[in-house]
Amino acid sequence: MLKTELCARLGIEHPILSAGFGPGAGPEVVAAVSNAGGCGVLGASGFRVPYLRELIRRVRALTSKPFGVNLILEDIEEGPIEACLDERVPLLVFFWGDPAPYVGPAHARGVKVAIQVGSAEEAREAAEAGVDFVIAQGVEAGGHVRGTTALSVLVPAVVDVVAPLPVLASGGVADGRGLVAALSLGAQGVSMGTRFVASEEAFVPPLYKARIVSSQAEDTVYTEDLFDVGWPNAPHRVLRNAIVREWEAAGRPPSGQRPGEGTTVGSRTRAGETWEIPKYASITPTPEYTSDLEYLPFWAGQTCSLIHDIKPAGQVVRDIVAEAEQVIDRLARIRSAPQPV
Ligand SMILES: Cc1cc2nc3c(=O)[nH]c(=O)nc-3n(C[C@H](O)[C@H](O)[C@H](O)COP(=O)(O)O)c2cc1C
Repeated sequence: MLKTELCARLGIEHPILSAGFGPGAGPEVVAAVSNAGGCGVLGASGFRVPYLRELIRRVRALTSKPFGVNLILEDIEEGPIEACLDERVPLLVFFWGDPAPYVGPAHARGVKVAIQVGSAEEAREAAEAGVDFVIAQGVEAGGHVRGTTALSVLVPAVVDVVAPLPVLASGGVADGRGLVAALSLGAQGVSMGTRFVASEEAFVPPLYKARIVSSQAEDTVYTEDLFDVGWPNAPHRVLRNAIVREWEAAGRPPSGQRPGEGTTVGSRTRAGETWEIPKYASITPTPEYTSDLEYLPFWAGQTCSLIHDIKPAGQVVRDIVAEAEQVIDRLARIRSAPQPV
């Protein structure tokens, strides 16, 4: 049993969230994580309201446990947040923006609010806005990276600033050792993206999952602006695939001068609407795309060094808890062992 105060607040058994890793974090992976005692978070940014409501209902059809919905606040419109409040989702997890306008309305409807932050200052502002907890994102993270600091430095710095508000750790955690490390830094749990992308239920193409399993941290690239079409000025970490290699071979030119700038790399059909994908688009690959996957961003964190298999998301949760318990037992034995003279 590994319970922190946050577990009681959220009504979950284990202090493990799956991140809303875009449309890849669909109802199946969310429900699998929640059913295993963690808290699955639906990736919902950019969806039209009817589709968002449909996904929330699909999550509810698959689990009766608490879950979250993730929305990126940059350029957010009223519709999706209102829809989530209307649907009385248990938890909203925001990223990249000011949560202040939404905390009051969410709490009035019994919806908890969290935000993923990249600095102690951002965490302090979120705490002042009244969020229920913050997620501190280290620079090791996959996808869009708000943090510029290593997780081992950021988490205690954020804990010191927002205490007693609960803090979760995100980026660089993929196993039980990472969970215990996060707890030892003062976090009350973890939020993981890349580990759950490589799960059976994640709504991403098999090649992308396999690439995470076969990659190491050194195969990830952190860039300010490579996949910036649709979301500029947002640093991100991706795996090195053909489109990244092409850009590196061209000398890492800035936005506007990249190879094949302005062309399209395929299309996506979602809820009956088809969209032509511009090269360097900031999208998460899903089975909805008919494109050469080598030309889409394979968002991934440094944790791919620790991910060696694709397994059911519920198993990921159970394995992490079991390993964390073993680590804590090992530490307790070190603590109680006779000291060498
Ligand atoms: C494929 C992918 C897509 C992501 N999309 C989002 C997103 O839409 N919204 C968000 O808040 N975070 C997103 N993130 C970032 C995660 O919230 C989290 O910070 C990150 O996954 C933590 O690092 P890790 O991947 O090493 O676990 C994404 C991450 C990945 C890997």
